[in-house]
Amino acid sequence: MGVAEYREANRANWNERVAGHWEPDAYDAPGFIADPERISSVVQFDRQYLGEVDGRLLLHLQCHFGMDTLSWARLGADVTGIDFSADAIAAAINLSEESRTPGRFVETELYDTPKALAGEQFDVVYTSVGALNWLPDIAGWGEVVAAMLNPGGTFYIREAHPVLWSLRFPNEDPNDETLIIEYPYFEVSEPLGWDTDVSYLGSASIEHTRTYEWNHGIAEIMAALTSQGLLIDLYQEHRFLDWQGQHQMVEDDDGRWRLPEHQRDLVPLAYSLRARKPG
Ligand SMILES: C[S@@+](CC[C@H](N)C(=O)[O-])C[C@H]1O[C@@H](n2cnc3c(N)ncnc32)[C@H](O)[C@@H]1O
Repeated sequence: MGVAEYREANRANWNERVAGHWEPDAYDAPGFIADPERISSVVQFDRQYLGEVDGRLLLHLQCHFGMDTLSWARLGADVTGIDFSADAIAAAINLSEESRTPGRFVETELYDTPKALAGEQFDVVYTSVGALNWLPDIAGWGEVVAAMLNPGGTFYIREAHPVLWSLRFPNEDPNDETLIIEYPYFEVSEPLGWDTDVSYLGSASIEHTRTYEWNHGIAEIMAALTSQGLLIDLYQEHRFLDWQGQHQMVEDDDGRWRLPEHQRDLVPLAYSLRARKPG
């Protein structure tokens, strides 16, 4: 198989995840619609790194059905979200209308974003958890980020750490807490293939069960940005995740998942990175 076939498999899978993710027990789109004050928990965390977004043009790459994108709109940003899933984009437009929160959503493959939004650039380019692992080529991703930023603009990403993606998952033995490095930390051309008929949230049963993912090391991610002239001004590693990435992880009062105390300092689970395009 080639990259195009991997992408089509992933797209079919992501289209099917949308309905389940919408549910009250998942991302809770009905709750977002009902409460005009609600900001997604992801953006609640990330807003400290982007500061004031009021009036800024913000592009959200791989926006899924737009709850994070529209959370930035509720904080005053003029938002555009892109995603390659037609179902996700349709749901995002619906969420925007139903919640009366303005936003523009465009269906496009990530690497085709500069073509799909020809001539446009943004003050902020934003990406959040569970995005880069779907992309085969991190250097090409860096070109997209740089192309979409205004001179003087800011890029911010919070993502699962490549060390997390290199750990064995799932661990079949529920009593075994060993963290085992099993998959490549660095980017390799052949993806990891997975088979599952459920998503990480929601009750939807998935028919297109096969997905393909790629890991990218931290230095590769940084080089993808700096090689395009972006200046990294913040990098932090986090001991939490937004979901249960390993079976022994426990959910804390803040709704985030952490390894048990005796393992908490062993590995980073996520990171925040911010970069600026010289003005
Ligand atoms: C886990 S979601 C991340 C979004 C956000 N963090 C969230 O939780 O709502 C990953 C998104 O990436 C999108 N995606 C995956 N591969 C893509 C590609 N090659 N081009 C554009 N979007 C892609 C999927 O459709 C999905 O909506």
